[in-house]
Amino acid sequence: MSENATPRKALLEVDDVTIRFGGLTALDSVSFDIKEGEILGLIGPNGAGKTTCFNVMTGVYQATSGHVRFDGTVLRKLKRHKITKLGMARTFQNIRLFKSMTVLDNVMVGADAHSKVSFFDALFRTPRHRRTEAEALARAKDLLKIVGITARHDELAANLSYGDQRRLEIARAMATGPKLLCLDEPAAGFNPAEKQRLMQLIRRVRDEGYTVLLIEHDMRLVMGVTDRIVVLEFGKKIAEGTPAEIRDNPAVIAAYLGVDEDDAS
Ligand SMILES: Nc1ncnc2c1ncn2[C@@H]1O[C@H](COP(=O)(O)OP(=O)(O)OP(=O)(O)O)[C@@H](O)[C@H]1O
Ligand SMILES: [Mg+2]
Repeated sequence: MSENATPRKALLEVDDVTIRFGGLTALDSVSFDIKEGEILGLIGPNGAGKTTCFNVMTGVYQATSGHVRFDGTVLRKLKRHKITKLGMARTFQNIRLFKSMTVLDNVMVGADAHSKVSFFDALFRTPRHRRTEAEALARAKDLLKIVGITARHDELAANLSYGDQRRLEIARAMATGPKLLCLDEPAAGFNPAEKQRLMQLIRRVRDEGYTVLLIEHDMRLVMGVTDRIVVLEFGKKIAEGTPAEIRDNPAVIAAYLGVDEDDAS
């Protein structure tokens, strides 16, 4: 980001969030924000609280204290589908696709979550319903192209390669029309070439107008694609800054990079 750029609005604000599970404090007074149009990395060793942070943001868990504000709305008491409607979508650390549905239908299901047609429209297949469906179909095909899935659209999701299943998850999340796309370790199990393609995809997603929050262990990928990085360790934020600042931060090196340096290749 250039220094002269006009300050951008925070799309998501995590404000002093603490969450406890019994005696374990999984997040301890964590605060950070995500600016519109940026790619923010959320990193930290195993068990640091990264996925928990997604779960608080997306309404799976309720914070013990503190709050999350998304696009001006405090999210604490909202149900998960409401959060999707507000414009936040995520992928999961463990792939969650409808494996017995086709590639295209998996994306269409995502689009339905945001559909404006009423039950009446759907039941009687009104012109409005047919028009919306045609638009959703075109958009779904577009998204599959954006994420680079070349498999047949009528192939079952179960038959896709592992890499394509991960890409399909991203397309499905994008189909809900989110302002913020949260990716939980999208490169897990990828080889270096696939990681390279994923980096290009994340940049393309941002260029399409999405804001991206990325949890990722692969340092080269995180450093190469994010604008800013937030580092968690044992539920606490220990650093925040540009990739260059994070790379040189002694606390981060001690907590994380020192251990994983050899894995960065
Ligand atoms: N529902 C839960 N009940 C109890 N403890 C939980 C729950 N969810 C997460 N935790 C604990 O909270 C801590 C943070 O877990 P979390 O999954 O957020 O870590 P993470 O940073 O995503 O790690 P990883 O890199 O391994 O995915 C861990 O100690 C975990 O065991
Ligand atoms: Mg996790």
